[in-house]
Amino acid sequence: MGFMGLFILTFVVGCSLMANGQPLVPAMIIFGDSIVDVGNNNNISTLIKANFPPYGRDFVTHRPTGRFCNGKLATDFTAEYLGFTSYPPAYLSQEASGNRILTGVNFASAACGLYDRTAQLYGAIPLTQQLNYYKDYQNKVVNMVGREQANTIFSGAVHLLSAGSSDFIQNYYFNPILNRIYSPDRFSELLMKSYSTFVQSLYERGVRRLGVTSLPPTGCLPAAITLFGEAGSNQCVARLNQDAISFNNKLNTTSQNLLNKLPGLKLVVFDIYNPLMNMITSPSESGFFEARKACCGTGTVETSLLCNARSIGTCSNATEYVFWDGFHPSEAANKVLAGDLLEQGFDLIS
Ligand SMILES: *[C@@H]1O[C@H](CO)[C@@H](O)[C@H](O)[C@H]1NC(C)=O
Ligand SMILES: *[C@@H]1O[C@H](CO)[C@@H](O)[C@H](O)[C@H]1NC(C)=O
Ligand SMILES: *[C@@H]1O[C@H](CO)[C@@H](O)[C@H](O)[C@H]1NC(C)=O
Repeated sequence: MGFMGLFILTFVVGCSLMANGQPLVPAMIIFGDSIVDVGNNNNISTLIKANFPPYGRDFVTHRPTGRFCNGKLATDFTAEYLGFTSYPPAYLSQEASGNRILTGVNFASAACGLYDRTAQLYGAIPLTQQLNYYKDYQNKVVNMVGREQANTIFSGAVHLLSAGSSDFIQNYYFNPILNRIYSPDRFSELLMKSYSTFVQSLYERGVRRLGVTSLPPTGCLPAAITLFGEAGSNQCVARLNQDAISFNNKLNTTSQNLLNKLPGLKLVVFDIYNPLMNMITSPSESGFFEARKACCGTGTVETSLLCNARSIGTCSNATEYVFWDGFHPSEAANKVLAGDLLEQGFDLIS
């Protein structure tokens, strides 16, 4: 985060205090995958879960919650920066009830992609189903506060989407059929169709503020280096990073087209590729020591069930690790990313 980021951060935090603890936006609504899942997968039958130690060991409660992290997600920090006193609860959890849902909920499910089949392969909640849950949610809010106030909440709320990584890492690269039918580029185009449909559906439901994260440098995820890199090498997999860059360019163009088509929409693509790449290539500049190996287990591949209390080699202190497990950033890295999100998302909340 540069000087400007720090400035905006201070400014925003200052504002949320000046507004007497009132958040800067009425609600925060989250869709997508394991980067932002806070426990929906706990409540469904899938193997892709993170509700056991050592997940959550550095979280506020020091308990696993279903977050794929040792502590807070980037979106948890974002909620704090926006002045919320709690995090949007997982829609399928008991916490998502009563007045609490008025300040937002989280529909994300680990292993969800833009392409519904990706989630279906793992028994996760596909994006179209997350959208159906969102419709239920909107009906509940309308019943609680009336149509007019509900519409103010929906149009003022910040909506966030994180998706696409699973489509590549947990589907395309393993799937001989997809591989034969689509080049990586064509596959990205297919994903863009789902993305456009999703954004337009949200728009039709009154959503006016939406942030979508780009793909990270998928070729630098420790598990991707192990699974797709050259044997014995710890270098990022160039081919995967190239696919991510190409996807991100399409995401930008598609978003620009949506902006031109949908009046009144604020849509921001958050670049997480470059901030994460900077942490990976010059870790010490942002206070990190280890950017190749993850903290959990051997740090080469473990995630979900493989990252557990019996994993051998788990680091004792994750604050100097960019990655918590084979696929997911540590809380420390998430904090840096959240600063960047805030800097890039200023238009979304102003
Ligand atoms: C979700 O799971 C928790 C813990 O297993 C359980 O207490 C709760 O009732 C479940 N909620 C729903 C909506 O199924
Ligand atoms: C697309 O990228 C350009 C250049 O980086 C940026 O200025 C623009 O805001 C991006 N568009 C969207 C919709 O994020
Ligand atoms: C982890 O290390 C950091 C400094 O690198 C230190 O500030 C922190 O207290 C340590 N945490 C634990 C739990 O030991």
